[in-house]
Amino acid sequence: MVKIGVIPGDGVGPEVTAQGLAVLELVGGLDGFRYELEEFDLGGERYMATGEVLTDATLARLRSCRAILLGAVGHPGVPPGVLEKGILLKLRFDFQQYINLRPVHLYPGVQTPIRDKGPDDIDMLVVRENNEDLYVGVGGFTRKGTPEEVALQTSVNTRAGVERCVRYAFEQARKRAGAGPFRGLSKADRDAGMTRQVTLVAKTNVLTFAHDLWMRTFEEVGREYPDIKRDYQHVDACCMRMVVSPERFDVIVTTNMFGDIITDLGAVLQGGMGLAASGNLNPEGTAPSMFEPVHGSAPDIAGKGIANPLASVLSVAMMLDHLDVPAAAARIRRAVAQVLAEPGPRTPDLGGKATTAEVGRAVVEALRA
Ligand code: NAD
Ligand code: IPM
Ligand code: MN
Repeated sequence: MVKIGVIPGDGVGPEVTAQGLAVLELVGGLDGFRYELEEFDLGGERYMATGEVLTDATLARLRSCRAILLGAVGHPGVPPGVLEKGILLKLRFDFQQYINLRPVHLYPGVQTPIRDKGPDDIDMLVVRENNEDLYVGVGGFTRKGTPEEVALQTSVNTRAGVERCVRYAFEQARKRAGAGPFRGLSKADRDAGMTRQVTLVAKTNVLTFAHDLWMRTFEEVGREYPDIKRDYQHVDACCMRMVVSPERFDVIVTTNMFGDIITDLGAVLQGGMGLAASGNLNPEGTAPSMFEPVHGSAPDIAGKGIANPLASVLSVAMMLDHLDVPAAAARIRRAVAQVLAEPGPRTPDLGGKATTAEVGRAVVEALRA
């Protein structure tokens, strides 16, 4: 029996997670996947009522899960950072979820705002480092509140942390070779035996310490993968190129902060925040991995029942891949593809009038069919 922890969280988190769980329930039955859920009441409401963010006892119970499904945390009534750092980042760091895997995949039938681009052009995989960089919380203030105030926020990059992330990206590129060669390769690259590409996204022209380490590691590890083309883009140009020529990207490996930013852009390429799924992975399985939409608690639409649940549904599929039930994961992706290919229900972010529950139900029905 696989134990799955569920943290619905704040805002639209519980609304979309309910649909993710409905899909899990059905697919679990179809594929004979036996699991039990443990729900964790964490987030803004709990914090405001009790002052508790995440206790050691709750952390220990979460650790006993094989995987965690999270909705979102972040509450307009709570100062920024309390819940995000206290729950989300705490889990990512304590459970050594050092890879944040964020596919950018445009499903047929979904409108991308990028003119003249379609599903063949928008299919990349962002491997975001998830345990270092500016997210470590190293820094502080001197003379806070005075005109002489200085605030420091340090980016920490370790050789070991960068190397495991870069290596993971090259391995992912090799796996993608199974789906055929990357179309963005030149004839010369193909003649040289290359099948796929990893782009390092950094800022080596300014961050000459941290990103020098990234570049050296990328080059050294990459040499072990002669079948994978090594590409480099500065993060600013990367943003431009993701919009102008998304087809030139295959796997992207990047830092925690840049990965956060470019994956909201990636979400837009694939039809919006409501479709972008992610996995915070502890690849060795020494602690649970955690699956969640890329989006946040969306306070502007929370409580209206109109959030798109598909990012949560697709995060459930990523969770099932991680739990070694790829057939169940593939079944969910097929059902989502079917719903998106038809002129069926769409939430307002995709130009429709359907509710969160109606879209969830459409996926469940597609699974049953
Ligand atoms: P957000 O992702 O919550 O919302 C950005 C925009 O996308 C909003 O207009 C929102 O309505 C829309 N959107 C998001 N999810 C959607 C969905 N499922 N369907 C349709 N539209 C959707 O980002 P934000 O507004 O910057 O942050 C809100 C709060 O969420 C903040 O407290 C932030 O810290 C937190 N946050 C949490 C997570 C997380 O828990 N993983 C991620 C990002 C932001
Ligand atoms: C995300 C979010 C988080 C991040 C925040 C809420 C801490 O934006 O998962 O993309 O920056 O990683
Ligand atoms: Mn983000």
